[in-house]
Amino acid sequence: MKIAVLAGDGIGPEIMEQALAVLDALALPGVELAHGDVGGTGYRKHGHPLPPETLAIAKAADAVLFGAVGDPSCDALERHLRPEQAILGLRQALTLFANLRPATLFPGLEDLSGLRPEIAREIDLLIVRELNGDVYFGEKGIRTLEDGRRQGFDFMSYDENEVRRIAHVGFKAAQGRGKRLCSVDKANVLETSQLWRDVVIETAKEYPDVELTHMYVDNAAMQLVKAPGQFDVVVTGNLFGDILSDQASMCVGSIGLLASASLGETQTQYGTKGLYEPIHGSAPDIAGQGKANPMAMVLSLAMMLRHSFGREAEAARVEAAVAKTLADGIKGGDLGGSAGTAEIGAAIVERL
Ligand code: IPM
Ligand code: MG
Repeated sequence: MKIAVLAGDGIGPEIMEQALAVLDALALPGVELAHGDVGGTGYRKHGHPLPPETLAIAKAADAVLFGAVGDPSCDALERHLRPEQAILGLRQALTLFANLRPATLFPGLEDLSGLRPEIAREIDLLIVRELNGDVYFGEKGIRTLEDGRRQGFDFMSYDENEVRRIAHVGFKAAQGRGKRLCSVDKANVLETSQLWRDVVIETAKEYPDVELTHMYVDNAAMQLVKAPGQFDVVVTGNLFGDILSDQASMCVGSIGLLASASLGETQTQYGTKGLYEPIHGSAPDIAGQGKANPMAMVLSLAMMLRHSFGREAEAARVEAAVAKTLADGIKGGDLGGSAGTAEIGAAIVERL
């Protein structure tokens, strides 16, 4: 079981240390770790946020465990050298087009949600975000028009194959959950979204057991805070999924709790090759202080065990240990508690 470990910037290394301690405690046979530099760390050590040696490690691995990238000291660099290019580059190079972002409220955290407890309690949804297309990867730039005005542009597009493959992931995920899929788009304004909607409707014919609905993204943002319990699986494009998943994280109390899996079509002898990362960033303001909540990273490890290594039992054990840690009142600052990174990690290991 070859795992590429890319801790990255800011709090990345601190939270990764705890996730690796949890992995170690599971004592799975045949685990091989290969560490690589990414993000601002990659740039400083090798001159690139995704150095070729790191990309090679990720390509050779069965799964990638990813911390976080982002470093304000790199903000002035040209875009292709900025830390974020590491994660964007990996998503693209490994064709990880399906991003699974579950948002479920842990019992006892109702009061930490930005929503009223009785509304927060209903949240149990999965956002399936497309990850290889949209404005993220279209032609982009800042150009000067004839009259001297500068104009920024990012080309938005989806071709039907891109939509179809993510739609299939959404429908299959719905089949494994509450059998309801909500496709989020902006078809009242965007042609890209019109094609998206048409293709999702065509794909639905193969999934008669799944109830399909459509929602404009502005309404979805509203419904997510008004009545989040109405959602089971949400499938959406790259940009809308980026925004809605951060919003969903606040509905469950903290972005420090949300894990994600990015999957493609590559099958290894163990499962689907994927990249696993918390949805939060590198949090430079608290980096190096031992304060960061490692739970999203640990929950990302659980997703890796499930999707890339077929280890459902171990994944469930890790998730249960995190839930028990929270239920026992051991919480990081993001949840209004005072437990530090190492303390939370040790508490999870103890409960395993
Ligand atoms: C995320 C992040 C990334 C994204 C950034 C770091 C490029 O916000 O994974 O949600 O926009 O996809
Ligand atoms: Mg984001």
